[in-house]
Amino acid sequence: MTVNDYKKQFQLVLPPFYDEMERTTIFYWAIEFVLGYTKVTAVLNGNESVSDENQSKINQIIHRLQNNEPIQYITGKGYFFGYEFKVTSATLIPRPETEELVDWVLTEMKKQPAKKWRVLDIGTGTGCIPITIKKEFPLAEVSAIDVSTEALNVATGNAKQLNAEVTFMEKDILTVKDLDTYDIIISNPPYVRNLEKVEIKENVLQHEPHLALFVDDNDPLIFYKKITQLAHQILADDGMLFFEINQYLGNETQEMMQPYFKNITLQTDFMGNNRMMKAQNKL
Ligand SMILES: C[S@@+](CC[C@H](N)C(=O)[O-])C[C@H]1O[C@@H](n2cnc3c(N)ncnc32)[C@H](O)[C@@H]1O
Repeated sequence: MTVNDYKKQFQLVLPPFYDEMERTTIFYWAIEFVLGYTKVTAVLNGNESVSDENQSKINQIIHRLQNNEPIQYITGKGYFFGYEFKVTSATLIPRPETEELVDWVLTEMKKQPAKKWRVLDIGTGTGCIPITIKKEFPLAEVSAIDVSTEALNVATGNAKQLNAEVTFMEKDILTVKDLDTYDIIISNPPYVRNLEKVEIKENVLQHEPHLALFVDDNDPLIFYKKITQLAHQILADDGMLFFEINQYLGNETQEMMQPYFKNITLQTDFMGNNRMMKAQNKL
């Protein structure tokens, strides 16, 4: 088998929920993981025969992909804002829409570049949000919370690897009480209702942590309500709250926040879905 033969095979044998472009991307990730080739090198070496040992490694990857395992869990890494993050089955794979949220936060922070921002991320997973903010704003004091010990271990390792000083705290946001004061609170909490499971692809449903994704159909804003009330108490006077939200619950989320926050702005993501919210604390 040559590299090009594998390129064709990936198109033929991956699960049907991947489109052609995703299959191509996954192919290049797999080739980079096994052969160490960048996309350009893989194209240039397309006619090269793959050794038996490497064929066996690629075949194992194909097998795992056919079991709907995301390529990021197979290679153990994902990308966010150009940084490489370790991911495991205890962490959500960072998403491009969350990059947009972070971009929005950074745009606000850049309006006061000299300010010593105090930033808290709630439900941090890989730590992609606070680590990116610390990398982009080295002067900021950045903290993050998660309830999952395994996720926090991954996040701590990512912060070390990327040389970003972030304070990680193991806390349940639904019961936490004493937190410091912050200028910005960001959260991408679990927001997918069980009734939306039919829309979720098998690779996500079978392999990503349900603790990170799902909420009860009867109380889908549980995290948003708790975080809104908490943020209202602990944010500085002109403090800002940023949420990634369930695209179907933009209006409900906004209404729920109104008694506590002003200037609530809803923004769509690159897919045109209501996906993020920015609001300013009411005194
Ligand atoms: C949607 S994921 C977001 C992960 C990461 N911030 C990202 O954007 O990729 C939600 C995170 O919230 C965490 N989480 C779930 N329940 C929690 C709770 N009660 N308290 C704190 N964190 C919680 C999960 O472990 C998960 O890491």
